[in-house]
Amino acid sequence: MKISLDYNNMTNDFIKNGISNNDINNLNEKIKNAVNAISEKRKNGKLDFMELPYNQENVVSEIEKYAKEKINEIEAFVLLGIGGSSLGPMALQQAINSPYYNELSKEQRKTPKFYVVDNVDPEKLVYLFEIIDISKCLFNVISKSGSTSETMSQFMIIVDMLNKKLGKEKAKENIVCTTDKENGNLIKIAKQDGYKTFIIPSGVGGRFSQLTPVGLLPAAFCGIDIRKLLQGAAKMDEICKNEDVYKNPALMYATLHYIGLNRGQNISVLMPYAESLKYISDWYAQLWAESIGKKYNNKGEIVNVGQTPVKALGATDQHSQVQLYMEGPFDKIIVFIEVDKYKKTIEIPKIFEDIPSLGFLGGHTHNKLIQFEKIATEYALQKENRPNMTISIPEVNEFTMGQLFYFFEMATSYMGELLEINAFDQPGVEEGKNSTYALFDRPGYEEKKKEIKESKEKDTNRII
Ligand code: PA5
Repeated sequence: MKISLDYNNMTNDFIKNGISNNDINNLNEKIKNAVNAISEKRKNGKLDFMELPYNQENVVSEIEKYAKEKINEIEAFVLLGIGGSSLGPMALQQAINSPYYNELSKEQRKTPKFYVVDNVDPEKLVYLFEIIDISKCLFNVISKSGSTSETMSQFMIIVDMLNKKLGKEKAKENIVCTTDKENGNLIKIAKQDGYKTFIIPSGVGGRFSQLTPVGLLPAAFCGIDIRKLLQGAAKMDEICKNEDVYKNPALMYATLHYIGLNRGQNISVLMPYAESLKYISDWYAQLWAESIGKKYNNKGEIVNVGQTPVKALGATDQHSQVQLYMEGPFDKIIVFIEVDKYKKTIEIPKIFEDIPSLGFLGGHTHNKLIQFEKIATEYALQKENRPNMTISIPEVNEFTMGQLFYFFEMATSYMGELLEINAFDQPGVEEGKNSTYALFDRPGYEEKKKEIKESKEKDTNRII
């Protein structure tokens, strides 16, 4: 299962002002430092996400066993989590299963329905309660920190409802926690109240946690082969260790984005030509934004660096965003993902043959149409000298998804090193979490509350 990165249209062989081999070679020292930094961090146990393809045999067996026991008992698997604790599971489920998964009959599905509640808009939960029977659901509460207000408040609502409906003892069967082994409230509650728990390794950050039980447990409940997923990641690890930028796609991806960013290409568009990959763009957007968008560099200097990720979908967004990509400012790098073989095929019938402007479609498949549309868009962008590249995958399956997740995680890590920033923290996100705690008068956040109150009092620019 080979994945390839075609970066022709990033280069000056194909577009005006494109990147030359010289531009890349001039960064040799920097690239070498980035590779060394990643491999040093790995050796020193600071990049635990890189070990996940290899060190989870026991975890995988336990997940499989648990899923096997539970799968026939429940009607729906409901994930409570946000950010790194929900985007990966959503992307994987969408990639592997039918887009109409929940609408399939139980016989067709063979696995429970799958819902993700990743927001605290009250409508999201209340409408869900209108269609599920909570006593027939397994609620997987996922929080690395065990303290995120969105997730923990959902957890509190569910625990209370289940306790009231089923009694505390029985309710335990409907909850499974995924969290850190010691930090935060969730692990404490889980231990105290006896909830089944899976552990997120301490050294793996939220957005790098898709290959931990965060992603593996929901996947197993959706009938997804998690062993193949990890095998795909291991395969990509082999490739992405290569020190030669011309042989390492993640390193090349990062290097091209780094050069592009220095040339004012502040936007990174991910545009898969596959409905099944729609949500990998959401996952990527979080990974790229939260890892790369930083105020300080490693020396503590203010750099305010970052590249805004944009989610797009082929062919849908050809009728929306592509006009901007084609003719708007030269501030984007567009990354396509193309798929050789789709899971289904549908042929366009040979009707309306007397209307040449329609008849030409007859006899072809939608598979070919979407692939040609990608080629056409790519070509049109190239003609307009718009930097773009293509990740090609043979088909969307567990193995290639493992490869893709790992590829983007490595590209992000290398990009962080090239920019000399810490790609693995998220002080901006923490600040938002802390301000929420303060607004709710959480003890210890009094100063923050005062700060927010003072700033809200200055309400001088408002209409009506
Ligand atoms: O990548 C991150 O660290 C964040 O986006 C987290 O995933 C997100 O804030 C949710 O955090 P937690 O899993 O601690 O509830």
